[in-house]
Amino acid sequence: MTRTRVRHQCEACGAEQPKWLGRCPDCGEWGSVVEQPGAGSGTTGGARNTTAATPSPLADVDPLGAPLRATGVSELDRVLGGGLVAGSVALLAGEPGIGKSTLLLQALSDMAARGSRCLLVCAEESVAQVRLRADRLGVPPPTLLIVAETSLPIVLAMAETLAPDVIAVDSIQTVYDPDAPGAPGSVTQVRDCAQRLVRHAKEQSVATVLVGHVTKDGAIAGPRVLEHIVDTVLSFEGDRDHGVRTLRALKHRFGPTDELGVFEMTGEGLHGVPDASSLLLTERRGDTPGSVVAAAIEGARPLLVEVQALVTRSNAPIPRRGAQALDSGRLSLLIAVLQERAAVDLAGFDVYANVAGGVRVAEPGIDLAVAMAVTSARLDCAVPADTVLIGEVGLGGELRQVAQVARRLVEAGRLGFARAVVPASTPDTPGIELLRAADLSAAFGALTVREARPPRVLEAVFGRE
Ligand code: TYD
Ligand code: MG
Repeated sequence: MTRTRVRHQCEACGAEQPKWLGRCPDCGEWGSVVEQPGAGSGTTGGARNTTAATPSPLADVDPLGAPLRATGVSELDRVLGGGLVAGSVALLAGEPGIGKSTLLLQALSDMAARGSRCLLVCAEESVAQVRLRADRLGVPPPTLLIVAETSLPIVLAMAETLAPDVIAVDSIQTVYDPDAPGAPGSVTQVRDCAQRLVRHAKEQSVATVLVGHVTKDGAIAGPRVLEHIVDTVLSFEGDRDHGVRTLRALKHRFGPTDELGVFEMTGEGLHGVPDASSLLLTERRGDTPGSVVAAAIEGARPLLVEVQALVTRSNAPIPRRGAQALDSGRLSLLIAVLQERAAVDLAGFDVYANVAGGVRVAEPGIDLAVAMAVTSARLDCAVPADTVLIGEVGLGGELRQVAQVARRLVEAGRLGFARAVVPASTPDTPGIELLRAADLSAAFGALTVREARPPRVLEAVFGRE
């Protein structure tokens, strides 16, 4: 005998609850837990599979069954590992206004111009608005098909007739399936629509792109309900005040997930930035206390970024620590290491640190730069402008070697940096002088620094034991 169990799920975060509750214990939202229909059936509304596949030896499977279709937007192709895969579904996620529709239109226009059949479903904007955007970006390709439609069954019927190579839905939160429960944009609707589109993509072998808005706290479609349904999750980020936008794959079934795409939002749409380091360092003022340059690696690409720190005497009982575009936990840890292992007194001081330009760098290779920026700000001493810093900092204050150090050094040399402070085991690289250091104190001692006012040498501040 099968006992039917009633499922309750939060509309805001997607968490399942054993019973109805007035407030979701997972996300704290009130009145969001609702009974799910079709409970106890064990399926989530998926269609019955009628065509049984026969198992075959892996070696016999045609690897070209899933060809790559380049989008023509080079930074997007870099992140995708070449292009869109037929029959796959990619979610393009980002905050409203970051440029998702622009990126999608540029990619589809390029693909359509090169002969792919592309269908753009606009569930948020009118076709006239998209036409205006296309005019702004350049001449709209006559072959790109566009429709303003929010009903998912109509979209799917259209796709069956047109048989496009690529279908893009902007956005998954605004399409609506009348057969599914919930209001448009609710967890059940978003998930149901995505599942139907995924099924369609696999059955028809259509490369599918879904646009998903991310809420302030970083959740996609409210919860992260879509991440496990789709093949690829692309996160489009950036600082609204800056034109720089970054694209990363948080999940990618067909390629690497650590590649970084860099764009600049201009008056004529998004422009790929192949030389991101130069762009990120353009506004840098050399010889400023608290400003240092780190040589990071994002995927296969070396990236030079300016790390800035500000240290001020605190009047709060617990000093504040603020991190932007870098990991706040890592900053707190580095502050503790500086205090305990390098005798930098930060106890009564507020410490703020950020990566200039808004490109988020979460990579241990910038530890030394963050530590140096904080120390330089605290002591009001500038690090020479022609020096880059590379190294992970251990809890003992020791400098650890990082991945691909040679590539970072070559990039620094290319951009005109004369010297690099590096972990002791770093091999020589032509074109750049290496200051090898075993720990933080040695790294500081290796740098001759000029104070904003009378010149001072960090070595003199720390001494050399
Ligand atoms: P949009 O692609 O509509 O963002 P999303 O789909 O993620 O909500 O773009 C949003 C912003 O980009 C908008 O504020 C205007 C700006 N923009 C430009 O600066 N240049 C351009 O060429 C375009 C098309 C948009
Ligand atoms: Mg949009």
